[in-house]
Amino acid sequence: MVPAGEGAMKIFIDSADVKEIRDAAAMGLVDGVTTNPSLVAKTGRPFADVIRDIVEIVNGPISAEVLSTDYEGMMGEARSLAKVHPNIVVKLPLIPEGLKATRTCSQEGIKTNVTLCFSATQGLLAAKAGATYISPFIGRIDDAAGDGMEVVEQLVAIYRGYGFETQVLAASIRNPTHVVRAALMGADVATIPYGVLLQLAKHPLTDVGLAKFLEDAKKIPR
Ligand code: G3P
Repeated sequence: MVPAGEGAMKIFIDSADVKEIRDAAAMGLVDGVTTNPSLVAKTGRPFADVIRDIVEIVNGPISAEVLSTDYEGMMGEARSLAKVHPNIVVKLPLIPEGLKATRTCSQEGIKTNVTLCFSATQGLLAAKAGATYISPFIGRIDDAAGDGMEVVEQLVAIYRGYGFETQVLAASIRNPTHVVRAALMGADVATIPYGVLLQLAKHPLTDVGLAKFLEDAKKIPR
């Protein structure tokens, strides 16, 4: 029998903030972490320090992004990032040089997260190149008047249909509805910002119900 939850959508936290990551991990909500240069910049800390801290907190895939845009540069960064910790997943941009680097990483056994994916065609190429994860940016597709969830749906169908092992990692998630829809579509992973993770747990009736229970508890004779 398959244990409950086996094969269920994994939850990653989309953050480079160690405090947020620790807090979400304490709630059992972190199967992995995705970072990007913007998230690291927000912390005001050096990239290497941030990554070193995250691998200590979370025992799961940790995406760390390269900054080079040429194949040689990307491969240099990918190889040194992969040496930092076995859980490191090298994040590569979905540009032709990034696809070349994805292919070489796959041949060298380096895990990859191909990022900045905005279409099913891009995602198809990433899978063909041997990506471990593909990151369709749902929120940013919606921002440009597209349908981010549709890209997730297409990628899940294409990968399952052809037996690609690349996992669909729904990224640029902006609200709880994105999470529910990603789960319904069978995304392998949703990477969720800390604020949205908290929103997932929130319900006004939970707060009202709890306040009432606590109020009524005062009337219980001691
Ligand atoms: O990690 C990449 C992605 O999740 C970015 O999200 O909200 O900046 O579009 P956002």
